[in-house]
Order: sequence, then structure tokens, then C-alpha cells
Amino acid sequence: MLLGGMNKVFIQTYGCQMNVADSEEMFAHLAARGAVLTDKLDEADTVLINTCTVRDHAEHRAVSFLGRLSAWKKEKPGRVIIFAGCAAQRLGKALQKKYPFLDILSGAKDIELFSETLDKSGLFGMPGESIQPSTPNLTGYVTIMRGCNFACSYCIVPSVRGPIKCLPVEDILRDVARKTAAGAKEIMLLGQTVNAYQEGTVSFADLLNRVSEVPGVERVRFTSPHPIFFTPEFLNAVKDNPKIARHVHLPVQSGSSKVLQEMKRGYTREVFLEKIQALKSCGFNISTDIIVGFPTETEADFQQTLTLVDKVQFFIAYCYKYSPRQGTPAAQMELLAENILEERLDILLNKVRGLSEAAYQSQIGSVQEVLMETETKGRSSENFWVKTKNTYPTGSLVRTKIERAEGTLLFARD
Ligand code: SAH
Ligand code: SF4
Ligand code: F3S
Repeated sequence: MLLGGMNKVFIQTYGCQMNVADSEEMFAHLAARGAVLTDKLDEADTVLINTCTVRDHAEHRAVSFLGRLSAWKKEKPGRVIIFAGCAAQRLGKALQKKYPFLDILSGAKDIELFSETLDKSGLFGMPGESIQPSTPNLTGYVTIMRGCNFACSYCIVPSVRGPIKCLPVEDILRDVARKTAAGAKEIMLLGQTVNAYQEGTVSFADLLNRVSEVPGVERVRFTSPHPIFFTPEFLNAVKDNPKIARHVHLPVQSGSSKVLQEMKRGYTREVFLEKIQALKSCGFNISTDIIVGFPTETEADFQQTLTLVDKVQFFIAYCYKYSPRQGTPAAQMELLAENILEERLDILLNKVRGLSEAAYQSQIGSVQEVLMETETKGRSSENFWVKTKNTYPTGSLVRTKIERAEGTLLFARD
């Protein structure tokens, strides 16, 4: 029982930034019950594992971490293990059978019930009056929507996170204000199709503008948007707001219209390229995600991905081998041979490797506003890392000229 005494919590988060935000939210409920964070597993009384299941590998890592906690728990049987998030949602009760030492299972769909779950377990005290502000961070992660209404044929997220639920504007603005009061200068708005946000008459563009007006907000970022919601109206509404960072992470998944259709992405190669052109004309720097080896991907389809990468010149591209997920339509299809996946991933990674450096080189001579994350290093609006010559307070905005680039680092004049 942890009632009464000091409760130190060790948090292990897997997966996307939404999970990072969820971990913060779950910790806030523990903190309201007197818990404090520790980064040492040995010292911890409670471990919170927030899990991902987007690819088999991600799930495997989370479950094997749980397996390794068996000995940790035996050392002091009063210790508590909480397994939460997307893999918890997918694996459900079967997990508790296999790992009887697991105390609390809390699936991704139940994040809003987390406080109740803690109370029901009887392992924690009653919550205090107020939930403590999260630890001060330069970037405040703010969830604006949960779930996903798409049904991409390879993707397990809709089944573990459920349908879209947009959070009320007032709650979001309050969360932003709380984060800036705790020291955040940059706000990252989060959702699986974040730019599909709509609450009453408030669109995603309206929300971005409203968030940027909250006192203390210097910069607003968001992830992950879906291409189809980038409309001319959106760009018109945000293009003159300098606080909206000029970087968009826009997953394309494939460069072949045929594969995109089989993935049920809802756009073609041509439409994607049009969106990119519009975003670039407003100064947005673009990064992406790509899946290689979708079951129906032919050599010609793969070549289309390569030519798309050349055309767009992504600043960063995260590339993944296709991983079949149980219950998704694509999991019914015959897999390509593993050596084909490996070979294609290798070729793509080789192509992508040079792109970042080229993007960094392209910044030489430009004037950038750098949000300092340490005294001598920060990020530009386009999300490039910049090293300054002088030292500045962390969290300040520095306007300076870029003199040179080395690998994936820019060097400023001042
Ligand atoms: N909502 C975002 C992506 C969420 S998942 C979007 O629609 O773009 C994050 C990334 O994981 C995806 O962009 C995709 O590239 C990858 N991914 C998702 N399912 C996958 C699978 N079954 N196999 C391999 N990669 C996958
Ligand atoms: Fe998955 Fe598609 Fe939803 Fe993204 S949009 S989370 S890839 S189903
Ligand atoms: Fe993973 Fe869940 Fe995010 S499956 S990618 S943690 S939404």
C-alpha cells in the first residue's frame, strides 16, 4: 500500500507525442495524490508504462519492459505497476493473466477515467484539491483532440484510440495558459489528425490564432496534420501570423496513387504535391513519414515514392517497414518478402539521409528567429537547430543571421 508515505513514480513512455502528453496527464493525477517523479527505477515505488502498438516492434518493446519488471516488483512487493496506453488497450486483460504482478491496466481509450481507475485500485490516497502544474518545460504539449475518424487500411490507431473527440476551446486555452504560467514559451497542439479540429464555429486555423494570443506564447506548433485538411482557407487564416511555426510534419506514407488508394489515405500523389506547393509558398518547411513494403507495393510503386521524395525534398522523413497489425484490413493481405522490405528501406534511407543536410545548407544567409532551448542552442521557426555565438537566456527569442551549416546544425552570426 502506498497510502500515506512518499510515492516516487518512474515513467516510461513509448510512441508518439500524444503519448507524451498523456503521460503528463496521468502523472498529474498521481501528483494530486502526493506522488513525485523519479528518473531512477531502483528508487521508484510506482512504474507507469505508457505504451504504443503502432508497429509490432513498438508493442514488443513495451511488453518486454513489463516482463523485466517482475524482478523489480519481487524486491519490494508493495511496488505498483501501471500499464497504460495503446498496447494496453489492444492486449487488454490477457496481459494481466500473463503478467499477474501487473497492478493496473488502463487502455488509451480510458485516459479520461484515469483518476477513477486510481481510486478504484485502492492503492493511492484520495486526490488533493488541485492537480499540480506539470514540470516546467519550454514546450507545452496540449492535446486538442483524441482518437481518429480515418480508417487507413494498415493502421491500428482508430481501434485503440476510438473516434475523434475534439476538446472544448475553453479547456484548451486554459491548458495553454497553465503551461505558459509554468514557463512554456512554445505550445505544441496534438491530435492524430490535428488539423481536422472543429468545435462549433471554431476551426483549426481559428484555434491556432487564439492559442497564439495567449499571453506568454511565443510560438505554436502542431502535429500530426492530415493532408486533406490543408485548404486555401486554412493557409489564408494563418499565413500572416508569425507565431505559427513554419514547419509542418505531414505524413505522406507512399508516393504511389495506387498504393495511397489501397491504404485508404484519401488523397492522390498529385493532390499531396499540390498541398506541399501551397504550404511551401507560405514558407512552411516539410517533414514526413513513409511506409515501405505495403503488401501491394510493386517495384514501380516504390520508385514513385523515391521520385516524390526527390520532388518535395523533405527536411526530415521517418521511414518505416510495413508492420501488419491484427484486425486491420491490410493484415489480411499477403506480405511481401522481408528481404524486399529491407532492401527498399535501405534504398529510401540512403536517399533521405542527404536531404536533411541539404535543407540545412539552404538556410545559410537567411535571417531566423531562434527560440533558445539552452543558452547557446535553439530552434528556428522552420525547426532547424541553430547554435548561437553569444549566450542568451533559455526561452528567449533571438533574431540572427545564419552564417554556416555543419551536418544538421546551423551556426548563427550573433
Ligand atoms: N495520424 C498520423 C500518423 C499516426 S501513426 C497520420 O495519419 O499521418 C505514425 C506513423 O506510423 C504513420 O505516419 C505511419 O508512417 C506509421 N505507421 C502506422 N501504421 C503502421 C504500420 N502498420 N506499419 C508501419 N508503419 C506504420
Ligand atoms: Fe492511422 Fe490514418 Fe488515423 Fe493516421 S489518419 S492515425 S494513419 S488511421
Ligand atoms: Fe503509438 Fe498510440 Fe501514438 S499506437 S503512435 S502511441 S496513438
